[in-house]
Parts: sequence; structure tokens; C-alpha cells
Amino acid sequence: MYLPSEDSFLLANAVKGYTGKSALEIGVGSGVVLQILHENFQIVAGTDIDFVSLRYCKENLSNDIMLACCDAASAFRHKFDLIVTNPPYLPLEDNERKDSAIHGNSNGIETTLNFVKSAISVLADNGKILIIISSLSNYTKIDEFLVQMKLRRRTIGKRKLFFEILMTLEISFT
Ligand SMILES: C[S@@+](CC[C@H](N)C(=O)[O-])C[C@H]1O[C@@H](n2cnc3c(N)ncnc32)[C@H](O)[C@@H]1O
Repeated sequence: MYLPSEDSFLLANAVKGYTGKSALEIGVGSGVVLQILHENFQIVAGTDIDFVSLRYCKENLSNDIMLACCDAASAFRHKFDLIVTNPPYLPLEDNERKDSAIHGNSNGIETTLNFVKSAISVLADNGKILIIISSLSNYTKIDEFLVQMKLRRRTIGKRKLFFEILMTLEISFT
């Protein structure tokens, strides 16, 4: 299970500024962000492919949070007001064993793109997506995709660490 780190806290902090009816987190890990969503939204759901993380959330968070073991947002048809995610973004080095909590496949961004595509399909018309992006991943590819999909994006948070820069991006249709 992914233990809360700088990227988790950056997302958790951004989430505090949003309220609404329904929210979804893709890739819940230990649930540190889910817990904050639960304070500001009436309906809260989370997904992960790691069963251990989901069991930990089930045992430690409120019972009315819906949890699903699935790829990205694929278990849902409901349209959410807010969708948040801190995707695994590290590139997989040669001969390295893949850890789905941190690796986003060979060049690091495939999982991020999968999460964004999946999130768009369940985002309400006026909804927002918050996503953590790292300077260690290929930001240009992500930006190209957002431009191609005519999605609006703005940086709402930044954290400079000694080995990377983390950003919180807000994405919306309008
Ligand atoms: C960087 S961790 C973030 C965890 C937590 N949100 C946080 O900020 O501390 C990424 C999470 O995404 C999950 N994950 C990886 N691939 C996934 C997929 N295809 N669908 C859903 N969750 C996935 C991992 O198991 C991991 O819990």
C-alpha cells in the first residue's frame, strides 16, 4: 500500500478548497485524500486495483464511502462533481519490477492518461478533475492530450522538492 507522501499531501490540501454533491478518487491508497473528500461531499467513492489498500480504507474510514476494486473509474456510470487522483507516475527502468503504486509503465505517463480518460467519462458537465503531475513524468504528452481533447487546465498548486517538482492541475470541460 502507498504510504502518504508529499504528493498525497499536496492533493489533500487542494481538495480542501472544493465542495459539492459527489466526489470520486481514483487510486485511493491509504485513503488520506478520501477522508478529506468525505468532509465536503455527500457522496464519496474511491477505486484502486490494490485490494490491500481498499481493505485498509474499509477498516479505517467511514462506512458510507463506496469502494470499488477496478481499473481507474471503470466501475462507475454516475457523473461526479469532483474527481481527484495522484497517479503512479514513475517511469519503469530496464529490469525493474513494476510496482503499480508508483510506476506508470515504461515512460511513466500511460497510467496518468488512462486515469484522465476514464475520469472524463464520468465527469459532470461543470465538474473538475484534480490531478498530481510530477516533473519526473512526461508533462508535454499529458498537455498535448488535454489540448487535443479541448480540456481547460490550470495549475492550482506547486511543491518543489530537491529531486522533483510536483504540481496540482485542475482540468475541466469549460
Ligand atoms: C501514488 S499512489 C496514490 C495513493 C493515494 N491516493 C495517495 O495520494 O496517497 C497511486 C495509487 O493508484 C493505484 N492504482 C494503480 N493503478 C491503478 C488502476 N489502473 N486503477 C485504479 N487504481 C490504480 C495504486 O494501487 C495506488 O494506490
